[in-house]
Amino acid sequence: MRMYDLIMKKRNGYEHSKEEIRYIIEGFTKGEIPDYQMSAWLMSVYYKGMSGEETLELTNAMADSGDRLDLSRINGIKVDKHSTGGVGDKTTFIVAPILASLGVPMAKMSGRGLGHTGGTIDKLEAIKGFNVAISEDLFINNVNNIKLSLVGQTGNLAPADKKIYALRDVTATVDSIPLIASSIMSKKLAAGADVIVLDVKCGSGAFMQDEVSAKELAHTMVDIGNGAGRKTYGIITDMNEPLGCKVGNALEVYEACEVLKLKDLENLDYGIKRLLEVSLTLASYMLMGAKNQSIDKDETSNDNNLNDGYHEKENCLNYEEARRLCEEAVTSGKALDKFAEFVAAQGGDADMIYNPDLLPKAKYIVPVYMDKEGYVASCKTSEVGMVNLILGGGRETKESKIDLAVGIDIRKHIGDFVKGDEVFAYIHADDESVIEEAKKRLIAAYKLSDEKAFPDKIIKGIIE
Ligand code: URA
Repeated sequence: MRMYDLIMKKRNGYEHSKEEIRYIIEGFTKGEIPDYQMSAWLMSVYYKGMSGEETLELTNAMADSGDRLDLSRINGIKVDKHSTGGVGDKTTFIVAPILASLGVPMAKMSGRGLGHTGGTIDKLEAIKGFNVAISEDLFINNVNNIKLSLVGQTGNLAPADKKIYALRDVTATVDSIPLIASSIMSKKLAAGADVIVLDVKCGSGAFMQDEVSAKELAHTMVDIGNGAGRKTYGIITDMNEPLGCKVGNALEVYEACEVLKLKDLENLDYGIKRLLEVSLTLASYMLMGAKNQSIDKDETSNDNNLNDGYHEKENCLNYEEARRLCEEAVTSGKALDKFAEFVAAQGGDADMIYNPDLLPKAKYIVPVYMDKEGYVASCKTSEVGMVNLILGGGRETKESKIDLAVGIDIRKHIGDFVKGDEVFAYIHADDESVIEEAKKRLIAAYKLSDEKAFPDKIIKGIIE
């Protein structure tokens, strides 16, 4: 096989065989295929696309390029979630404790933030003492004992993806659906969960700005997951404004704790309501997937007893039942207790979960007023993420150090009327010199109008 021929084949719009895809991924990972040929191939994929079979093989080849996390020592059906990245997305801190409190194991690998989106690992480090670099044994034991553990991504998970992504980043080939889907799913498959729920963000703060592309990405990833034998759901959620009210590392942990403390899920602040809706939808699908997969597994192992080939899944959990259980996990306080237990098991200060006022606080908390009255009509959500970056809460390069205390607390959402003397948001800053620029960028990120505006639906679609 010659890489030259494979570039030409894709350039001319033909489909690769499995062997050809393996040849490309293995050759590039080993350094046998040079960057210039790989770049040409990536650009051909960008223009000509890939079939479902090609995308699945590409994903498996990338997942096989390094270590696969061995979760076989963990009892039960393991679930995982992945968000394609947004602003103010703290759903992991709500969803994971809900699931764990319901007995569903979650062994999660997460990453750090880059650019306008935050990272789960950074946010958790806002909790004093929390350690994301625990040993594999402690990780496995914690999942077996308390059903939840979270670590930073290991160096050798899908190294082919790392190398390919670096090339895509400099050759304008990032925004290709088969390349994005295979990149995300290769890491998810290597991370070992049996059930995967994907939160595909859609809107001005997301990779996918329009609903058609978000749905296409979700479909592609769900097909890969199911094709690889993992029960996978895709939930398309709105990212046309930040999720919830708070953006910033400690601030997002704070808001997740506020949600986990809710005793009544009615009459909520609009931002909290949207955050809760996304979290409960993700958690319900994860719970449903875990319970129903374990029924499937039991039935498969009992298949010898079934002589008519027909069996009704009478114990299957439906969405409504799963949702009720997830809601109860919040209102009963069990999910909050689980979050505190998880934090303590990784060396963190659990008091900060019950009393989030103990989380790191910025030196300055400055109100922001809009320069005119009107209804909030739209938001350039990625700009709100950039404001957090200006304040020092985000990472410009992988090496940047971040300030965990800073961020933005948004008081108004799309559809709200803002009076001239009303506080629109609070900026939390440690460096006085960046406050004016942060204020200006935040005000410019929003459009006000004289006519009442309506926010987009928070859940835009479910792909099963
Ligand atoms: N996130 C990933 O991990 N890969 C992509 O290609 C895009 C987003």
